[in-house]
Amino acid sequence: MKITKICCIGAGYVGGPTMAIIAQKCPQIQVTVVDLNEERIAAWNDADVNNIPIYEPGLSEIVKEARGRNLFFSTAVDQAIDEAEMIFISVNTPTKTYGKGKGMAADLKYIELCARQIARVSKSNKIVVEKSTLPVRTAEAIKSILDNTGNGVKFQILSNPEFLAEGTAVQDLLHPDRILIGGDTTAEGQKAIQALVDVYANWVAVDKILTTNVWSSELSKLTANAFLAQRISSINAMSELCEKTGADVNEVARAIGMDSRIGPKFLKASVGFGGSCFQKDILNLVYIAKSYGLQEVADYWEQVIIMNDHQKRRFSDTIVKTLYNTVSDKKIAFLGWAFKKDTNDTRESAAIYVADDLINENAKIAVYDPKVSRKKVLADLDYLQTRTADENAKSILSFENPYEACSNAHAVAILTEWDEFVAYDWQKIYDAMQKPAFVFDGRNILDKAVLEKIGFVYQAIGS
Ligand code: NAD
Ligand code: UDX
Repeated sequence: MKITKICCIGAGYVGGPTMAIIAQKCPQIQVTVVDLNEERIAAWNDADVNNIPIYEPGLSEIVKEARGRNLFFSTAVDQAIDEAEMIFISVNTPTKTYGKGKGMAADLKYIELCARQIARVSKSNKIVVEKSTLPVRTAEAIKSILDNTGNGVKFQILSNPEFLAEGTAVQDLLHPDRILIGGDTTAEGQKAIQALVDVYANWVAVDKILTTNVWSSELSKLTANAFLAQRISSINAMSELCEKTGADVNEVARAIGMDSRIGPKFLKASVGFGGSCFQKDILNLVYIAKSYGLQEVADYWEQVIIMNDHQKRRFSDTIVKTLYNTVSDKKIAFLGWAFKKDTNDTRESAAIYVADDLINENAKIAVYDPKVSRKKVLADLDYLQTRTADENAKSILSFENPYEACSNAHAVAILTEWDEFVAYDWQKIYDAMQKPAFVFDGRNILDKAVLEKIGFVYQAIGS
C-alpha cells in the first residue's frame, strides 16, 4: 500500500518536528498536522517562521521549506482524518492527576478521544500509528474502540515510538539510531508495517528500521527511557559520594565511560533530570509493574525517581546551607529555566523545584533564560500549588539581560547548560554581585579554577 496522505493528531514537541521531517523527506506525501489548540496551530502557520511554537535548532528552516508545499497545520481534525490513509496519534499522555493511578499511571483520555474521533469520521480503511508513548497493551484498547464502530472500516494499529530528544530533535529525526515499528503478525499487519517502513525508507537505511510485535514496541519505549534516566540517577548518586570523599564525578564518569561496555554518553552529573518524558514514563512503568503484582520490579525502577528528587532537593539545600543558613530576602540569580539547553520546553525542569524550595525560604529568584518567558516561569510555579499566584509573582524577578539578573545577587545558580553561559564575562558578573559571591553550578559547565581566581566561591555537582 502506497501512502499519499498522512494526518498527525497533535502538533506538539513530537508531532510538529516529526511531521516536518517526513514532509521534507517525502515530497510525494501530503502531511497535515492537526490540533485542537487554535493558538498553537496559528503559531505553526505564522508568516514569520521564527514564531513557530517550538524552538529546535534547524526546525524553522525545514518548516519554511515544506509548509504550504506538502506540510499543513490545521484545526480541521475531521477533514484531515477522513482524507488520510495513515494517521499518527501524537497527543500528550501525561501522568494522571486524578482517580485510580493518580500520580503514576499515564492519562490516556486524549488517546481515547482520538480513537473515538477516528472511528466516527473514517469512511475508508486506515493505518493508525501510535506515536505517543503509551503503556504496553494500549493498542488493544485502541483496537477495541476502532473495531466496534459498526461502519465496516478496517483499521491496522502500529506502534512507532519516537526516540528524539528535545534540543537535538532535527538531527535525531534525520539520523535516527533506529526506527521501531510494531505491528500485528497477520498478513494485513505485515502489510501495514511495510507501508510505514516505506515512508521512513525515504531517508533512513532499511537495516536501521526494526520491526517487532506491537507489545515489544510499546514496552521498548518505556524501557529505553527508564535505562537512560537510570544512568543519570546512577551518576548523580555517585556525585553525592564524590562530594564526601574528594573524588571528582567528572573524572569518575570519564574513567567508567571509557569501558566500551558502559560507554561515555548520558553520564553527566546534574541538578537532576527534567523533561516531559523520563519521570512520566518511569512512573508509568512502575504502575504497570505494580498492576501485574511485580512489586520488586516496581520498587527497582521507582528508585530512579526517588534519587532524582533527592538530587534536586540536595541542590537547593546546599544553596541555603552555604549562604549561612538563610536566603531570606536574598537575590539568587537563576541562569536557565528550560529542562536542558536548546529548547524552550520547561516541563519538569529541575529549576522549578529548586526555585520552589528557595521561595519557601523567602528568597527572591532572578531568572534569565534565553528562550523562556516570565509567563511560562510563573505558570510552572503556579502548577505546583505551593502558594498563591500573587506570591509567586512577587518572588520571581525576570530579566532579559543576564548581567542585570546577576547584579546585586548573593549567588548565581546554573540550572540549564546553555552554551552562552560559559562565554559570559564572569569578572563583570562578580564585580556587580554581593560579596562573598557564590556560584552553584548545577550543570558543571564553568571552569572552577577561573572562577576561583576571579574571587567566586564556586560549588559544582560532585566535586
Ligand atoms: P505536547 O503536549 O507538546 O503536544 C501534544 C498536542 O496534542 C497538544 O498540542 C494538544 O493540544 C494536542 N491534543 C491533545 N488531544 C488532542 C485531540 N484529541 N485532538 C487534537 N489534538 C490534541 O506533547 P509532546 O511532547 O509532543 O508529546 C506527545 C507524545 O509523545 C507523548 O506521549 C510523549 O510521551 C511522547 N514523546 C515525547 C517526546 C518529547 O521529547 N517531548 C519524545 C518522545 C515521545
Ligand atoms: C528523552 C530521551 O533522551 C529521548 O530518547 C526520548 O524520546 C524523550 O526523552 P529529552 O527528555 O528530550 O529526551 O532530553 P534528554 O537529552 O534525554 O535529557 C533529559 C534530562 O536529563 C534533561 O534534563 C538533561 O539535562 C538531563 N541529563 C541528560 C543529565 O542530567 N545528564 C545527562 O548525562 C543527560
